[in-house]
Amino acid sequence: MPRHFIELFDLEPGEVRSLLDLALDLKRRGDRGGLRAPRLAGRILALVFDKPSMRTRISFEAAIAHLGGSAVYMTGKDVGLGVREPLVDFARVASQYVDAIAIRTFSQGLVSELARHAEVPVINALTDSDHPCQAMSDLLTIRESIGRLEGVTLAFVGDGNNVARSLAVACALSGMNFVLACPDGYAFPDDFRRRFSSRFPGVSLVESHDPASAVAKADVVYTDVWCSMGQEDQAEERRSRFEPFRVDLPLMARARPNAIFLHCLPAHRGEEVTVEVIDGPQSLIVPQAANRLHFQKALLLHLLGGDIG
Ligand code: CP
Ligand code: NVA
Repeated sequence: MPRHFIELFDLEPGEVRSLLDLALDLKRRGDRGGLRAPRLAGRILALVFDKPSMRTRISFEAAIAHLGGSAVYMTGKDVGLGVREPLVDFARVASQYVDAIAIRTFSQGLVSELARHAEVPVINALTDSDHPCQAMSDLLTIRESIGRLEGVTLAFVGDGNNVARSLAVACALSGMNFVLACPDGYAFPDDFRRRFSSRFPGVSLVESHDPASAVAKADVVYTDVWCSMGQEDQAEERRSRFEPFRVDLPLMARARPNAIFLHCLPAHRGEEVTVEVIDGPQSLIVPQAANRLHFQKALLLHLLGGDIG
């Protein structure tokens, strides 16, 4: 059975720690001498994307290339996934050609189904409900900038979307506190809350409709777009509902004095965050995006069993 990376509920705290340790180690070695040992020489990563991407696609392509392997990119349309080609046949046949498949699509169920039939590791590169690679590399950014994870408070101001859900689980796995500030009706769905409390009994999943009180103890203030890919028809409604949830300087001033600002990107300046915040001194968006590469290198080594050396 190959090891997959589908959702963070599947991980144990020790695995999170060792993936982050490995990512930091790879980053330091790369940063020092540009050492790019070909630990995954000849290995091939398929990227199957049904939604647009900049960071995830490029960082995965760069990650496998740094490790000596290569990537092949296709859209679900190119494959005719689920139309020309049944998912089960895609999973079984693609497994004969490549060593891992990273997929970005709408349905989380489709990713799990792909993993059930694939003979190689399947990586979730974002679905409507999860963005585990993003959340894990964000832990790396927080650990690097604050120096620890345990006891750190992250306030997510915005939609209870894929990024927020993966972050909530990532925080629980690493001893962090998570708070969601969102308009009524945009909190986490009940099934997510149920899974969260059965997986992490005793860990509270705080939801608030008041951004100012939600960020009061925050070391990290995080936001994401108000309207995710696939929700374009709700854009107008969402813009008016989320208006009081914009991250601006007065809101940042309510967080802890050394609080950092994170955003998974892409961002809409003037919507979910003001220019002064996203381009200001508390914002770590560029090192945050850079860490996608380092985490994904660690993930590929972890899943493909490359010698860490
Ligand atoms: N943050 C992130 O996943 O960016 P892309 O959508 O550009 O991949
Ligand atoms: N919530 C956003 C994240 C993009 C990286 C989306 O799904 O569009």
